[in-house]
Amino acid sequence: MAAPLNICVLGGTGFVGTELVTRLARDGHWVRVPTRGQGHGQHLGVLSTVELVTANVHDPRTLAQLLCGMDAVINLIGILNESGRASFQSVHADLAGKLVAAARGAKVRRLLQMSALGADPERGPSRYLRSKGEAEGHIRAAAPHLDYTIFRPSVIFGPRDSLTNRFAALLPLAGGFLPLARSQARFAPAYVGDVADAFARTLGDRASFGETHELCGPQILTLEELVRMTAAVARLPCHILRLPDTLGRLQAALLGLVPGKPLSLDNFRSLTVDSVCTQNGFARLGISPRHMMALLPFYLGPFTAPAELDAARKTND
Ligand SMILES: NC(=O)c1ccc[n+]([C@@H]2O[C@H](COP(=O)([O-])OP(=O)(O)OC[C@H]3O[C@@H](n4cnc5c(N)ncnc54)[C@H](OP(=O)(O)O)[C@@H]3O)[C@@H](O)[C@H]2O)c1
Repeated sequence: MAAPLNICVLGGTGFVGTELVTRLARDGHWVRVPTRGQGHGQHLGVLSTVELVTANVHDPRTLAQLLCGMDAVINLIGILNESGRASFQSVHADLAGKLVAAARGAKVRRLLQMSALGADPERGPSRYLRSKGEAEGHIRAAAPHLDYTIFRPSVIFGPRDSLTNRFAALLPLAGGFLPLARSQARFAPAYVGDVADAFARTLGDRASFGETHELCGPQILTLEELVRMTAAVARLPCHILRLPDTLGRLQAALLGLVPGKPLSLDNFRSLTVDSVCTQNGFARLGISPRHMMALLPFYLGPFTAPAELDAARKTND
């Protein structure tokens, strides 16, 4: 195993962050996780080598303090929708710029940046993807002072995802009827454990310095197939009404006004480009990405706890 490092993980309290921070702690690293507070990240408190700090990472001085004494920094902070002062520009692009400056000041050379497939500062169809592309630009521009690696995953699934869990929650509410925008949009869902593995393996891998890794699961699915798979595993009725783009855009505009924004116009625009890899970084990192169908039953299906699986196995013996 590589020597233990001091690592600051921005966005470490979220879905991907929880998986990654847990993995880093298990690998023997010491991890600092800033959070805006609101009780997020309390679940990480059981890990004795994880330090949860309430801090405003957008404040350059605070960011500099957070990076003091760190060997590496990982930026997972991201939003799917804007709210209040949290714009895509400030949370993705501006924060990346501040992070590069803070890392330089604190002499932290190693930086892993979470981006997204399709990120492009000019040609990205949504503000989400353009701001992710702009963030990548800030990181690459700092190359002489920074050993960076950028990750661009497709959608990520796992026990606490907001993808399969959302559809599993929505379907019963509407009696199984789901009007679906961009049903033909294609994804290659990546398992959160594999994504965390990619980050963890890359930390000390000099060959990854300056590289951008796309991360895709082994199977390409349309949004409709993904919903149907979720419904089948969760044993829910599923009748999909494929919306043409004119209606899909209207649906997104309306749902964008609902609290929690289940879909927004910006989300709709992101869905106009396929989220599939041109070259899968998992292979380059020696990881065999896991199949969605193999893992979904463990958290959406009837067997959600190991004890239940054991019981099921015994019945089958
Ligand atoms: N999930 C996916 O399918 C997927 C696919 C491709 C790329 N990504 C990218 O992967 C990263 C992690 O995604 P995730 O699904 O784990 O997201 P998540 O569960 O929503 O977690 C987001 C994290 O960012 C922090 N955060 C959110 N808004 C913030 C703000 N305004 N200022 C400071 N911190 C803020 C949160 O920290 P606190 O609440 O503790 O402050 C939390 O730790 C994001 O960059 C996302 O764009 C995700």
